[in-house]
Amino acid sequence: MARPSHARLDLCALRHNVDVARSLAPDSRLMAVVKANAYGHGAAVIASELAPLVDALAVACIEEAIALRDHGIVAPVLLLQGVFEEAELSMAAQLDLWVTIANEQQLCWLEQARLVQPLQCWLKLDTGMHRLGVPPGDVAAFYRRLQACKQARPEPVLCTHFAAADDLQGEQTGAQLAEFERLCAELPGARSAANSAAVMAWPASHCDWIRPGYMLYGNSPLPASHPNSVKLHPVMTLVSAVTGLRDVAVGEAVGYGATWVARRPSRIATVTIGYGDGYPRQAPNGTPVLVAGERAALAGRVSMDMITVDVTDLPSAAIGDEVTLWGAGLPVDEVARHVQTIGYELTTRMPARTPRIVTVA
Ligand SMILES: Cc1ncc(COP(=O)(O)O)c(C=O)c1O
Repeated sequence: MARPSHARLDLCALRHNVDVARSLAPDSRLMAVVKANAYGHGAAVIASELAPLVDALAVACIEEAIALRDHGIVAPVLLLQGVFEEAELSMAAQLDLWVTIANEQQLCWLEQARLVQPLQCWLKLDTGMHRLGVPPGDVAAFYRRLQACKQARPEPVLCTHFAAADDLQGEQTGAQLAEFERLCAELPGARSAANSAAVMAWPASHCDWIRPGYMLYGNSPLPASHPNSVKLHPVMTLVSAVTGLRDVAVGEAVGYGATWVARRPSRIATVTIGYGDGYPRQAPNGTPVLVAGERAALAGRVSMDMITVDVTDLPSAAIGDEVTLWGAGLPVDEVARHVQTIGYELTTRMPARTPRIVTVA
């Protein structure tokens, strides 16, 4: 029997989440973000499923785009950070990729390039995140240079990125949106600003193109109770199985470093999944897991290939029971809060070792 640890990928959930995004932004085109191996889910399988359903895909860099083209994906693909060296522009033109222009260097390379065809450009404006993008005072000049540039198709898409769209009470998103509208007011071309949080909570930001990533994987950057969070279905469910059970007396410790000590006569399940399979080593005692669908708590430090779980309150727990680390029934963001990170990081760090097994319910 094979080791039972794997990430189950529910492609029905993926399609459902696309429908949710479309219903929230019915007048916008949808660019699905599949960078970082589709947030750890597996870029080839996810992008193949998404390509016929969406208007374009987005990745971080040309290597990720090449992998999609090698996989036979012909949909438009945007490089969200643009190119990192001039030679990548020729490859982008050959592969018919779209490129972000976010700084002077990238625009200069484009102006000097000799390409097999002009590129569709996305001009990135810095409206307040101060990470990427053209400063407000330079936008008009960049736009004019792009219009005059023979290697660029006539009308760039104008885009920006929000720093805090998951903060529903804060002022930053409203301020960024107002700045984006001000900067774009005189410029022709489509506009794009919304990531998942903005798709779900800031309808005024939807513009011509939405760019969701996280929500398509069924996870929400907003609180789980938000009415749009509850519409999403998780695509990835990380599962393993109970491979051992033992009774532990009061005062006995479990695992490396003896960080968990039994305060009552306890039953401990050993589960064959660990940080080598993408389950975070930082997960503290008490982090929730599901054993045969019932909640139980991590007891003891996460090892490379195993964890230990307190199943004292689950008398029917048995060897072979399925264990859910996150996904259906246990949102990854709930686990992430225990680990003091975000669900984005947990799914994205899923290593190649963990098999992805596709289900189409
Ligand atoms: C420019 C850009 N747009 C859209 C996204 C998608 O964000 P999310 O996964 O929060 O929807 C990202 C992700 O980091 C991004 O960098």
